[in-house]
Amino acid sequence: MQEYKDIKYQTHPQVYEPAEDTFLLADNLEVERMSRALEIGTGTGLIAILASRKARMVIATDINPHALDCTLKNIIANKAYNVELRKGDLFEPVKDEKFDLILFNTPYLPTSEDEIVNGELDAAWNGGPNGREVIDRFLAELKDHLNPGGKVQLVQSTLSGNEETLEKLEELGFQASITARENGFFEEMVVITAVLS
Ligand SMILES: C[S@@+](CC[C@H](N)C(=O)[O-])C[C@H]1O[C@@H](n2cnc3c(N)ncnc32)[C@H](O)[C@@H]1O
Repeated sequence: MQEYKDIKYQTHPQVYEPAEDTFLLADNLEVERMSRALEIGTGTGLIAILASRKARMVIATDINPHALDCTLKNIIANKAYNVELRKGDLFEPVKDEKFDLILFNTPYLPTSEDEIVNGELDAAWNGGPNGREVIDRFLAELKDHLNPGGKVQLVQSTLSGNEETLEKLEELGFQASITARENGFFEEMVVITAVLS
């Protein structure tokens, strides 16, 4: 068992282990009391469990089945029973549903064909050749799943074009800014927070 603040969590070899990007988002979460939240790509469930402390309920999804098994154990260990799990690609598990807050620590690493690794862990960081494959699919559907005045917080890095995300969000009618930053070895990781105006 590992620990972040008072949350105890276990990991799994095929699930993204919470790292600097996870903790950057965890430390800068903006969750309104009693809101309805969605976390896409929950991994071990740490972010969803943290958000569930303030939100009325959190739906946590992942494309990786091991992530859902791991998150279920962590939900039970932390008695976070207002977190609901669903498996699937991006918004597919929440087809017609809307939320006050959507969270996503994205797979943002530019990854060429020969860098793809076997197994489910690949989805944790594989952002396609330019790092934006999953981010752009996410942005294309985002607005349909937010209530008026809703908020999105996503994590990405300079490796995958922060300005491009900010511009796309503004074009979609959001007020968007970088609300947290952290330097890694080869990149600056950021939390982008945007409110639908
Ligand atoms: C960088 S990891 C973040 C995990 C966790 N939220 C955290 O912060 O530690 C990205 C997560 O998104 C999931 N993921 C990647 N592509 C996805 C997609 N298209 N739909 C749903 N989940 C996806 C991965 O399986 C992985 O668990």
